[in-house]
Amino acid sequence: MTIRKNAFGEYDIFTIENASGAYVRILSLGAAVQSIAVPDKRGELTDVVLGYDTPAEYLSNDGYFGAFVGRYANRIANASFTLDGRVYKLTANEGKNTLHGGRGLSKRRFELISAENNRLTLGITDPDGGDGFQGVVNIRVTYEFSDDNKLGICYEAVSDADTYLNLTNHSYFNLSGRGDILGHELMINADNYLPVDTELIPTGEVRPVAGTEFDFRTLREIRNGFYDHCFVLHGTPCAELYSTESGIAMTVETDMPAVQFYAGGATGVRLGKNGTVYGKNSALCLETQYYPDSPNRPDFPSPLLRKGEKYASQTSYKFSVE
Ligand code: BGC
Repeated sequence: MTIRKNAFGEYDIFTIENASGAYVRILSLGAAVQSIAVPDKRGELTDVVLGYDTPAEYLSNDGYFGAFVGRYANRIANASFTLDGRVYKLTANEGKNTLHGGRGLSKRRFELISAENNRLTLGITDPDGGDGFQGVVNIRVTYEFSDDNKLGICYEAVSDADTYLNLTNHSYFNLSGRGDILGHELMINADNYLPVDTELIPTGEVRPVAGTEFDFRTLREIRNGFYDHCFVLHGTPCAELYSTESGIAMTVETDMPAVQFYAGGATGVRLGKNGTVYGKNSALCLETQYYPDSPNRPDFPSPLLRKGEKYASQTSYKFSVE
């Protein structure tokens, strides 16, 4: 097992390759997952995530391809919340709301903390008041790629003041390595989902999936591409995804309470890695996280990180062939 470091413009790209030759590539730019190349049913390596070949494309494009997302994944209504009696004003970057932390951490440079065997740890410090959030927050993210093709992502953080923190990874998966994800089969281990308003802010209701198009409790085909919703997790695994075309299956596990299933409906046409054209529904995201807008919803599980306490969370994506 080796980790190679190469230049990626002014940034670094780290390749974690396992014993079989499968590999993941991680950037110091946004701690983004740039590639996940795993064998398909013919034994050929297939890159199952969207990404770009240059830093300029990561810096100028929307969509958060493969990115580390923080301080707050998903939306916070009206770019504000109240904590301990004080009102905090955040960076509004989607109309009047905050998406993925505002300016966020996804286009920032992460520092190399360690690279050993199959584990890569990157770190970033966000100053007090970053995007309006309280506290200096020290964040570490560790990527571990095993010989059985499992990418583990471990998030750790501490803050010197009470703050809200909700960290995720925004990889876009296409297990066929081409075309679109309509026809992929999906299971989400959720009995309930969160209905949203026209600005994709949860209404507050937690609604059963039974009898709706949000019922993915057993593996079934994704038939339309409008999904952009938070599912309340019921147990483990969190989700399973399968492409009959490549035979590649992915199992997602997490200790987070929810997962945002985004079918990539807003991905505008652009050129990606190796000149591949990406567009609507080219790939989908399964972003493990706290519920959207939780700082304004005391009835949702709390993403509050108290001063000096340790934030720790894990999510893994395991690939196999069926
Ligand atoms: C959001 C989508 C958004 C996408 C890219 C997802 O996490 O749920 O609404 O279009 O990120 O920004």
